[in-house]
Amino acid sequence: MIAAAFVLGSLVGSALADSLFTPFDLSDLFARNAQISSGCSTTGSASCHNTTKQSDLCCFEAPGGLLLQTQFWDTDPSTGPSDSWTIHGLWPDNCDGTYSENCDSSRDYTDISSLLTAQGASDTLSYMQKYWVDINGKDETFWEHEWSTHGTCYSTLNTACLPSGSPKGAEAVAFFNTVVGLFKTLPTYEWLAAAGITPSSSKTYTLSAITSALKSASGVTPALDCSSGALNQISYYFNLKGSLIDGDFVAIDAPKKGSCASTGLKYPLKTGSSSGSGTPTVPIPHYSGSTPTPTGLPSKAHLQASTTGSLLTAGTWSTQTAATYTISGSASSFTMSTSKGNCGVSSGSLTCGSGVTASTFSAVSSSGSLLLAYSGSTSWTSDASPSGTTQETVYTGTSHSVDYTIAIVSA
Ligand SMILES: *[C@@H]1O[C@H](CO)[C@@H](O)[C@H](O)[C@H]1NC(C)=O
Repeated sequence: MIAAAFVLGSLVGSALADSLFTPFDLSDLFARNAQISSGCSTTGSASCHNTTKQSDLCCFEAPGGLLLQTQFWDTDPSTGPSDSWTIHGLWPDNCDGTYSENCDSSRDYTDISSLLTAQGASDTLSYMQKYWVDINGKDETFWEHEWSTHGTCYSTLNTACLPSGSPKGAEAVAFFNTVVGLFKTLPTYEWLAAAGITPSSSKTYTLSAITSALKSASGVTPALDCSSGALNQISYYFNLKGSLIDGDFVAIDAPKKGSCASTGLKYPLKTGSSSGSGTPTVPIPHYSGSTPTPTGLPSKAHLQASTTGSLLTAGTWSTQTAATYTISGSASSFTMSTSKGNCGVSSGSLTCGSGVTASTFSAVSSSGSLLLAYSGSTSWTSDASPSGTTQETVYTGTSHSVDYTIAIVSA
């Protein structure tokens, strides 16, 4: 906490020096709730994973293609709800871990609150007032700093990438919408609590217990930073397909460890009130930015293959009546079962049955449908397309004859 306050304090000074007052023209604002669209495809290579030089940096994040969603656990003083980590930022590191900061002082916007309100993002603003809070209470300065220091470095947020006629600051509004949307998919407090790891004035935890709880919930290993032996910050790493405005975040393992020791980690209690909702809600069923998907993850679903047919109770593919799958968890991490038992992937194939160990799946939003993903991939494959009463084994990947995706459709 001293460290966090120090870092913010020192950086805020320079952000303030750069950011002279920027007036906004009220006449050219978007209608309420208008959201900009990048027009970028999300099917190309993820940032840092291209094999050839990408020329359209409005639709491919470079050079800062290694994204970190950082969250604080601040207890001295306590910041934010007692049952939620809070947002620090979303930072574009270069693929090798180096980074740029303060990339365009001409876009060091001030009065982020008014900017968000004027451009239809008052929901984002209210969320930020609760979950993106400064340790010294200077929220507005903190948001300006995160935008000017990091936000201005995103190639996909250059003003030249915006739809023509976009109001001044629209790319910053998109940035805040995206950060909030992504943070909602990363409920660190809830994930740790589900593994019995809760704040305590006496208990200590091992780093491996914490990282394995987070890995089983999120599918990836984040980096954890400590201050005086206590958890203080977490970084979830991503590559990006498409634009930061509305692209797909591909979760990856942290390329390096954080500063926490391996044992004896404290997770101090926060004073202050809880978020009120029990656990943070996770309404966005994909790692994406500004546009919440209208339908969340259903708790009872049919799994429909993109070509024909659907999955039966054993996890096989058939044109017979679709089985009902019971889904529990959030879109970024859930398990499934049928009347036969838990569903899991073992040796590359999907089965559901009484002796099956449940695997963790995720849902990826694509063209209005929710696709079933395993290990971040939505590709499924079988030896043949089913017909009549035949049942085909469903494998992960694309190595068999027939490739398809599987939509999660409310039952
Ligand atoms: C990927 O694209 C970026 C941006 O054009 C380029 O700088 C980089 O060299 C490319 N990487 C590879 C391996 O071609």
